Amino acid sequence: MDQHRDDHTHDDQHDHQHDDQHDHQHSPGLADLLDLDAEVFTEQTAAVHRDIERLADAPVRTILDLGAGTGVGTFGLLQHFPDARAVAVDASADMLEHLLGRAGHLGLSGRITTEQADLDQAVPSVDAVDLAWASASLHHLADPDATLAQLATRVRPGGLLAVLEMSAFPRFVPDEAPGGAAEARVHELMAAARAIDLPTMGSDWARRLTRTGWSVEEDRAIVLEPAASVSPVIGRYAAASLTRLRDAMGDRLGADDRAALGALVDGGPTDVRRRDDIHVRGERRLLIARRSREDV
Ligand SMILES: C[S@@+](CC[C@H](N)C(=O)[O-])C[C@H]1O[C@@H](n2cnc3c(N)ncnc32)[C@H](O)[C@@H]1O
Repeated sequence: MDQHRDDHTHDDQHDHQHDDQHDHQHSPGLADLLDLDAEVFTEQTAAVHRDIERLADAPVRTILDLGAGTGVGTFGLLQHFPDARAVAVDASADMLEHLLGRAGHLGLSGRITTEQADLDQAVPSVDAVDLAWASASLHHLADPDATLAQLATRVRPGGLLAVLEMSAFPRFVPDEAPGGAAEARVHELMAAARAIDLPTMGSDWARRLTRTGWSVEEDRAIVLEPAASVSPVIGRYAAASLTRLRDAMGDRLGADDRAALGALVDGGPTDVRRRDDIHVRGERRLLIARRSREDV
């Protein structure tokens, strides 16, 4: 293990938070939500693949997916880069099991290795990584800068790292429409909770990359346009997302807001899966950085 990881200490609160983040018993529906998210963002992800291909200085053969979740990022990359193999890393055994099941259905099992590992302890040792991928995972880490610095020793000189991060969870219901005000309030509560639990979410990732030895070559917003949102999957994505938000907020949500959010997901007349005014409003940040061609 690297020295800077040996020096890394946690306080009790951090350890508690850290355990919660890894305990997917407390994250019902996360796997479904991640799969739906990938369906919603298919076009945008394809554009990211093209950006990577444009920046790659050699064929992409070895991919390292950090915080791979259900594997949607890995699958997309393997489909785009047919000569590549991937190592999918996640702390959650449940996620990796889900990933391997899907890989089998997609005919990708032979090209994927999984590794259950806590990235807060160390980035698994994989030789000559051409492309590292970290989608919605860095903000879960206790010290993302330490992980990014260590990752720079895993990626080959000239290799790439693609980071996708969100600064806020997507919104679905128009402000004036039934349930819109309750959705706005749950997001306010969530933002306050996140400032404590996930303080690096929405931080300056370009700065973090630069100070940990990466050279940022692409840094752009990915906006989900409402026009692109008209699809039945949006309703399912909205329902999964709002259910998780409501459940995550527990007692902090007032009874009225809880009831209003319930009405968005209970199968009744204002359920988001039955409405035609539901659009995803959200933005992600894409950064593609290169490891220096000099040895680090
Ligand atoms: C929001 S999900 C994103 C999953 C996937 N990259 C995607 O975009 O769909 C975050 C993932 O990071 C994993 N994760 C969180 N903290 C981690 C850690 N310290 N080490 C390894 N994986 C971690 C979680 O188990 C979860 O699967």
